[in-house]
Amino acid sequence: MVDSALEERIRLSVVEGLTRVIASNPKLSRFSDIKVNSDPRVSGHSRVFHAVATDPVTEQCRYLAVKKYHHPDVPDAENEDFDLAFVRAHDPGTLLVTEATNYEWLSRRVTMVNEKGKEVPSYLAPNYSGSDSLSKILVTRHMDGDLLHNLIKNALEVDFPALFISGLKDVARLNGLSNAPENLARYVIDPSEMRVKAALQASREKEVLKANFARIYHILSGDAATGQPFSMQDVNRKLGIASNSLEGLTQDVHEKLRAIEEPVRIMHHDTNGKNIIVRPPEKGFANRFIDLESLGPGPRMTDIASYCIILSKGSNYVISSDQFFDYLTMYLTYESAWRDRDPEKIKRLNSLADPRDFSIESGMGREEYVTAASEFFLRAILKTMKLSGSAAREMQFANDREQVVINPPETWSKDMNGLYHMVEHGLMPLIGVSDKAPEFRAAFYAIGNAANRLGYDINPDTLKVIGSGNHPGARFLISMPGSPVSNGNGGSGSSA
Ligand SMILES: Nc1ncnc2c1ncn2[C@@H]1O[C@H](COP(=O)(O)OP(=O)(O)O)[C@@H](O)[C@H]1O
Ligand SMILES: [Mg+2]
Repeated sequence: MVDSALEERIRLSVVEGLTRVIASNPKLSRFSDIKVNSDPRVSGHSRVFHAVATDPVTEQCRYLAVKKYHHPDVPDAENEDFDLAFVRAHDPGTLLVTEATNYEWLSRRVTMVNEKGKEVPSYLAPNYSGSDSLSKILVTRHMDGDLLHNLIKNALEVDFPALFISGLKDVARLNGLSNAPENLARYVIDPSEMRVKAALQASREKEVLKANFARIYHILSGDAATGQPFSMQDVNRKLGIASNSLEGLTQDVHEKLRAIEEPVRIMHHDTNGKNIIVRPPEKGFANRFIDLESLGPGPRMTDIASYCIILSKGSNYVISSDQFFDYLTMYLTYESAWRDRDPEKIKRLNSLADPRDFSIESGMGREEYVTAASEFFLRAILKTMKLSGSAAREMQFANDREQVVINPPETWSKDMNGLYHMVEHGLMPLIGVSDKAPEFRAAFYAIGNAANRLGYDINPDTLKVIGSGNHPGARFLISMPGSPVSNGNGGSGSSA
């Protein structure tokens, strides 16, 4: 239900805030005539308004997107520790400062090199115009174009691969350029700061993991269906003590992940299709990433794993496709070329048609590739569980705000089993070449084991194979860098 008096008060505070932002930005100050629409797009923690600012003398105008943060709805915040953590993480003041800092960096300090060898802006994000701490708004240039999410939703099946690959290249460009040494140096002043931030992020991740485990259990155990309200104490009591407790399972997974020490890079952390604006192709503009609330250090495969999961047309559409390992090679190759800010190489990659050529261009050895693929699957599995955790949380809200979550409980087990199937048959036969094979196996096992305690039904034999390392032999022939068996089609082998 919309409280129209409240909505009008919010809009007025946005107008006031925007007036201040425009007045204090030398490039915008002449656009003093401001109109803010009254129909924002509302999510759980923000409203995004469109605004037009006009120069009264020349009648030129600027189109702006104004994001106003508000506290997320949390029905049981009082008695649940981790929901308080959730509320704190979505505190409007904190989000404003974080996202403003990130926009400032990504839109103004992250650069690339053009074909003439000149350093130019990267155009990864819309131009940042400013922010106002009193009204809690963040102002960016409004971008023309469609959300990738909508393009994919409305696309025919045959158009999907091209759309998917274009977004994959965007993610590679974002990840690569963000982590190019020249650009990274403008993000962290002191390298130890990166480690501190990453450690903080990892400890938050553990809290989030635990919260998601509890939410998932509440749904999969059937408690939610019988109308029982969600309660952390209840979940704790039912899961029991010691190694099966919520804390025990979380700690186990956390420790196994820590042992792997995935390389840490600057990640966007929310690379879904609603945060990618595809620009009109006839103008040749670069696509843009928005929603920089969570940008910061994290495991290097986070964004591409999220992208592959969330952009799929249903359960693991991309990851279980015959082309999956080619896509992964393509991502890794582009990402490293952008990280080197090497326009010649990008040009070469853009002209490649055969996936096998990407393997050659990647310059990657087998071990490096398998390690990256293993990190990919870890992040994909964790993201899948995270989405289920958020879905479980969202299910408490009966209001009509935009739903961000795509996976209903009926699909949770199916998605998870699909990923574990790929790990067993696609990854395990190769994992021996990675010097972290035992650590990876232990992590996949710990997550699978925890999942089953929460109500998933991953085949125990699959977990046994993963845990022991005794796989019955390759059932997928994949094309990968340095592989003598590469057959170029990333084929699904004899798994049928
Ligand atoms: N600069 C912009 N140009 C065009 N549309 C934008 C811009 N910023 C935000 N939007 C629109 O608002 C929506 C929500 O913004 P976003 O920053 O992703 O907020 P949230 O954190 O609530 O997801 C986007 O999906 C997009 O449709
Ligand atoms: Mg968003």
